[in-house]
Amino acid sequence: MSFNNFIEPFKIKSVEPLFMTTVEQREKYIKEAHYNPFLLHSRHVMIDFLTDSGTSAMSSEQWAGIMRGDESYAGAQSWERLEAELKDLTGYPYVIPTHQGRAAERILYGYLGGKGKTFISNTHFDTTRANIEFSGAKAIDIPCIEAENHESDYPFKGNMDVAKLDELITKYGVNNIGAVILTVTNNTGGGQPVSMENAKAVAEVCKKHKVLFIIDCCRIAENAYFIKKKEKGFENKTYRQIAQEMFALADGCAMSAKKDALVNMGGFLALKNEELATACTNLLIITEGFATYGGLSGRDMEAIAIGLREVFEDDYLEYRIMSTTYLGEQIKAKGVPVLYPIGGHAVYVDAGALYPHIPAHEYPGQTLVCELYKLGGIRAVEIGSVMFGKYDENGKLIPSPMELVRLAIPRRVYTKSHFDYVVEVFDKIVQNKATTKGVKIVKEPKFLRHFTAHFEIL
Ligand code: F0G
Repeated sequence: MSFNNFIEPFKIKSVEPLFMTTVEQREKYIKEAHYNPFLLHSRHVMIDFLTDSGTSAMSSEQWAGIMRGDESYAGAQSWERLEAELKDLTGYPYVIPTHQGRAAERILYGYLGGKGKTFISNTHFDTTRANIEFSGAKAIDIPCIEAENHESDYPFKGNMDVAKLDELITKYGVNNIGAVILTVTNNTGGGQPVSMENAKAVAEVCKKHKVLFIIDCCRIAENAYFIKKKEKGFENKTYRQIAQEMFALADGCAMSAKKDALVNMGGFLALKNEELATACTNLLIITEGFATYGGLSGRDMEAIAIGLREVFEDDYLEYRIMSTTYLGEQIKAKGVPVLYPIGGHAVYVDAGALYPHIPAHEYPGQTLVCELYKLGGIRAVEIGSVMFGKYDENGKLIPSPMELVRLAIPRRVYTKSHFDYVVEVFDKIVQNKATTKGVKIVKEPKFLRHFTAHFEIL
């Protein structure tokens, strides 16, 4: 199947209206939101690409599972179903349910972390880094060198730099390493996949030094798709077998089920080591809930168990990755610079290259998210100097290395005609680009300013 002749492998049973708005209305709404799409009302958004997390459409089977949910405090049937499913998928004997990914991270990395400890990853996701640093430990990112080239078609730019991993473990000392975390796919690194060869090499280094190897597996089905299609030797394996082979390399995993488990809320830890699992379960009971539900309702656990089966189906994954690729390739064909190759869950636009006349301190990424909303009612997120910029002692902006905008695609929510609409909006963006003006920040909080900052158009 080529990327432009796929069809959605589902039909629609229940619909949620999109409220159509005009450019004039949206100009007013974005002004009222101080040119920050996080401050918009969702009813004023037509296509919401803010995140692929917790935004999936559930299947009729999952909704049926919601009705079957067993809400018993201890030993619920829904827990037994989820536990069996996760043990089978991951091969790990100990499963700990949490209300979302960051709760799993807080428990595991909070326990393993603390002052003097170091964690090493291809790239830590924000909440992963935040939980590690909050414990007093250090988080180091070592993406592979190929990830620096945003135009090459190297297929596994999510890989970890294994030679550096070996060096860093030796440098910091085995006893000071909290864990090595492989994030598949690498969200912060452009949603790029990790090859099985790389995961094996990481596992070997971890075994050699006897350090803990954890997979952040929230998009492992999408990662398995790329391995089957692009790595030699996997053509005849199922996506689920590929994921199982990857799990077998590590000592455990942390998952935000809000991504590849196709649900709106949920997460878990799964571990090989009994002692570590017992310590995590003790922490779970203090802050999340009893060991057989964690932070989840019985009905949530049913939906996760079913979603984790559906996500590995051939037709679903083909459609999922083809639709992301379709959007990315079509936008690229309009002359919009995008990170290449297109990743699994999102298209990343290089707003710095799109608007070369807008300097970093006038925030080209924020400019593009405002244009996308104004011209098309599309909501996306800036991943550039608004999110990562810092000030030096003279108050001068130290910009982020890249001015990106992420279009994260909810699973099973938008159709090909929605994507075609987004492509048309990009066409207008390209036509207007020479006269598009940057923005300035007029109000900002001290931390995580992208969520609440106020802007004005220059
Ligand atoms: N790990 C990765 C790789 C993630 O992408 C996320 C969330 C988490 C952990 C945390 O999971 O939200 O369930 O607590 N990513 C979302 C995003 C928020 O938009 O990329 P959570």
